[in-house]
Amino acid sequence: MEGVRPTVKIISCGVYVPPKILTNADLEKMVDTSDEWIITRTGIRERHIADESQATSDLCLEAARRALEQASLKVEDIDLILVATSSPDTLFPSTACWVQKGLGALEIPAFDLSAGCTGFLYGMIVAESLILTHVCRRVLLIGGEVLSKITNWEDRSTCVLFGDAAGAVILEESQDDSGILSSYWRADGSLAELLYLPAGGTRLPASEETVRKGLHYISMKGNEVFKHAVRRMEEAASEALRRAGLNVEDVTHFIPHQANIRIIEATGERLKIANHKVYTNIERYGNVSVASIPICLEELRVQGKLKKGDIILMDAFGAGFTWAAIVYRW
Ligand code: ACO
Repeated sequence: MEGVRPTVKIISCGVYVPPKILTNADLEKMVDTSDEWIITRTGIRERHIADESQATSDLCLEAARRALEQASLKVEDIDLILVATSSPDTLFPSTACWVQKGLGALEIPAFDLSAGCTGFLYGMIVAESLILTHVCRRVLLIGGEVLSKITNWEDRSTCVLFGDAAGAVILEESQDDSGILSSYWRADGSLAELLYLPAGGTRLPASEETVRKGLHYISMKGNEVFKHAVRRMEEAASEALRRAGLNVEDVTHFIPHQANIRIIEATGERLKIANHKVYTNIERYGNVSVASIPICLEELRVQGKLKKGDIILMDAFGAGFTWAAIVYRW
């Protein structure tokens, strides 16, 4: 189509969620909390937890296989494996390389992207640019986390929030007007310590002391994260819509990162987006970070709710801080 900007679209999606479920009632037996507190403050009823043998790449691998199957593609048809995660199998090599080994996709380039819960949207933006510049034809983008293994199960202010899951999409250049219409991404490293994993890197290498102090677990100032998340998610969504030349009324589905139902509701209110357009599933998964947006997308697709031409607004905020939004035409 002459004069029409080429776009990049999702051709398939795969999701893997480990079978084991941890309910709020289970958590009541582990820390001083209640089902009522967790539901009211977070909207979460249950989350899925990986078993002892499962690392992040195992979840990513299963999601990737499902995305390949849905697209009727073989791994040879992919020319980049990109994994967004904050809970990698190992500091190096990348989780993407472990996934590559599992897929038997030897020599296809593979790397990780670290952008907290915003990693999936950052990954979409990176994949889009690589495809539009013809560096890659098809990108397998996976968002996967096993946050349960970096969660302090004695800290009630964080352990009720997170879950484990992976979601994968395959992206390629679109042949019509569907795909990514616009994007917006930002970061502010000056606020890094409000949500981070203090030890285990080169700043604070693992030692007997770091282990004793529990510094290998997620550290978060929940209140602060909350305030920034609402403001930045509104900013990202508004700016991405403006760049697409669209208004909030044009949006068919709003898919916010599922961090906390109150963050989602507050962002929706600030954007003045109708409630029925806001997709939520946090009550069943908790905060699964980079896996949350692909899971929402796949659930909408399976429910038959995605129609050609629908405008989808994806919006996320995470550690860094990082924040981003994408406007997408289905
Ligand atoms: N059960 C019972 N009480 C609890 C629990 C719990 N699980 N956790 C905290 N409390 C208590 C606190 O100790 C505090 O008690 P106090 O008043 O006696 O001191 C009280 O509840 C209120 O604590 P707050 O931290 O002020 O509670 P708040 O309403 O802010 O909710 C929460 C806490 C749920 C963590 C909220 O701040 C939040 O969701 N923040 C954003 C977190 C988030 O989304 N992080 C990830 C985003 S980015 C990413 O996805 C990586």
